[in-house]
Order: sequence, then structure tokens, then C-alpha cells
Amino acid sequence: MRRSVLVGTGSALPKKVVTNSELAQRVDTSDEWIVERTGITQRYIADEGETTSSLATDAARRAIEAAGFEPASIDLIVLATATPDQTFPATATIVQHNLGCGGGIAFDVAAVCSGFLYALGVADSMLRTGMAKRAVVIGSETFSRILDWEDRTTCVLFGDGAGAVVLEAQEQAEGETPRGVLATKLHADGAHNQLLFVDGGPSTTGTVGQLRMKGREVFRHAVVNLADVLNEVLESEGLGTADIDWLVPHQANARILDGTAKKLGLPPAKVVKTVDQHANTSAASVPLALDQAVRDGRIKAGDLVVLEAMGGGFTWGASLLRI
Ligand code: UT7
Repeated sequence: MRRSVLVGTGSALPKKVVTNSELAQRVDTSDEWIVERTGITQRYIADEGETTSSLATDAARRAIEAAGFEPASIDLIVLATATPDQTFPATATIVQHNLGCGGGIAFDVAAVCSGFLYALGVADSMLRTGMAKRAVVIGSETFSRILDWEDRTTCVLFGDGAGAVVLEAQEQAEGETPRGVLATKLHADGAHNQLLFVDGGPSTTGTVGQLRMKGREVFRHAVVNLADVLNEVLESEGLGTADIDWLVPHQANARILDGTAKKLGLPPAKVVKTVDQHANTSAASVPLALDQAVRDGRIKAGDLVVLEAMGGGFTWGASLLRI
């Protein structure tokens, strides 16, 4: 049986850190409110010259190095983003050129904060069906460019960054403990697309637009949808919460992470949390957190890891991997 095995991770953050107190000088907010309601203490914000493609390229390069591969051997790049460099071409093609691995497949996926889960699902399907052999799956965002910096209800919540994984199609013998992506479950419900959206776009306003969110309602849906999809992906493999070594969730709000873990009966020590440092980096948040936990030695070969995310659309999903 052919499976997509995770062989490398990488991430990249902009140079500039912006603290809650710095934001409190721009809008009517406080470090206390942001920490208490979200768990966020700081975020990284891209400077001029730092773009979705430059962050994605750095993250991908680190993941490819960790895998020990030559960039030229990568034949598939799937990049999840809601903040592409340009409306077209796909930012993945810019990254492909930067990495020097032209000729393979490269495209973007738009599923906002769930983008990395969607990208992983697509790449896994393509690897298992033999369309490609080695994939880089990236989540990269510069949300700072679509924030309304006058709106305290949204501008304090987001940050910029990128994370990447390298997947390789490997044949596994029957009876062997399966490694790699074991299952992915994805969902969308467009009935809620006015709860979290950008108020512009090429075919409507001809502008980029700015992010708008009804946070309280998104929060309510997030805890329910995430717990449901986590149970769904585990049940599909005949597993339960007790089997999980690590949960790597989308980093939107520490209260959502805690609420989801509690609903599942998962000890907080098994949840990778980076929201305090990175804030919500949309499609980048899961691979950024995954890379951090792999590099600091928490996530090891053989661990059973669940990734999950929920975002605009609504879209949500979860993926189960044996490292
Ligand atoms: O990544 C995609 C998924 N996104 C999410 O998962 C985000 C989900 N939502 C959330 O994380 C939370 O709902 C928020 C962090 C956005 C808001 O927290 P909340 O506890 O739901 O607060 P709230 O929206 O109910 O607002 C409470 C109060 C309001 O004042 P009043 O109406 O009670 O007087 C807000 O105006 O807090 C006020 N407020 C602020 N105060 C200080 C809102 N933003 C701020 C702020 N600083 N930055």
C-alpha cells in the first residue's frame, strides 16, 4: 500500500515582533484583554519585502533540508493561502521558481484557516494515486496586509508566518505499522460565509478588501465543529482520543484549544500551543506549530498526531498521521 510519509518540516517568521502593548498604542485595547480573551502575547508582522512567497520559500527550504532531499526532486507543491502575492499566478509557482524545482505540479489552495488541512488532503491523494512522488505542502500568510488596523475586534488576533512539510510516497507492506497520513476528513458549510470574510475581491470590488469577523459566533461553531471532525477522523481508523500522542490544532484562540481538548477529554499537555507567540496565522498556524514541536523534540518518530483547523467559509478538517 502506498502512503504519504512525513519526512521533513520547516517554518519561517517575519523579523518584526509586535507586542500587545504596542497595539494598545494604536487601538483601544490592552495587553490584559488580549491575553485573557485569546492567550496571545505577541505576533510577527511582515515588513516591506517580506511576502507570502518569501516566507513560504524559507519554510519550504527548511523542510526540504530536514528531509535531506534535493529541491529538484520535488514534483508537487501545494500552497495554502488567503493572502497570495498576486491574484494570479498561484504563489506556489513563485515558490517553485525560488526553490529551483520547475517542471512539476504547483498550485494554491484557498480554504483560509483550514487551508493547510485541505492542501494536505489534496497532496496526499495525489501522492497515493501516483501523480507525484515528493510533495511540499505549505501554509503561508501575510494577514497583516488584509487587516483593518482601526478595528480592535480583529487586528489584535492575527499574525504572519509560514510552515511547510515534505511528504514522500512510500510503499508499505501489509502487516507493517502504517506510517504517514492515515486519514483526512474535510468539510465546508457556505451558509456561514458572512461570519468571517474579506470585504473585497477581484470580481466584486476590484480591491483586496479587509477581514471582517463576528468573533463570538465563529467561536461557538469552532468548538463544536473541531470536536466533531476530530472524533470522525479517529473513528475512521478505529482509534480514540486515548491513542493520540499529540494534537496540533489551528492556533486561533487559547480558549478554543482548551475547550476542544476538554470536550474530547484530552490532557492539555498533549496539545501543542503556539498561539501566545504567533497569534492566528491562518493557513500557516498548523504547520508552524508542527515544525516547532518536531524541532524541540516533543513530536518523535512513531507518534500518532492529529492536526485540525477551522476557518472562513466555514471550512474545517482534521488529519491523522503516524510520524
Ligand atoms: O481562525 C479562524 C477562526 N477564528 C476564530 O476562531 C476566532 C473565534 N473568536 C474568538 O476568538 C473570540 O470570539 C474573540 C477573541 C474574537 C472575542 O472574544 P469574546 O470573548 O468572544 O469577546 P466578544 O466579541 O464577546 O467581546 C466582548 C467585549 C465587547 O465589548 P462589550 O460589547 O461587551 O462592551 C467588545 O467590544 O470586548 C470588546 N472587545 C475588546 N476590548 C478590548 C473586542 N475586542 C476588543 C479588544 N480590546 N481588542
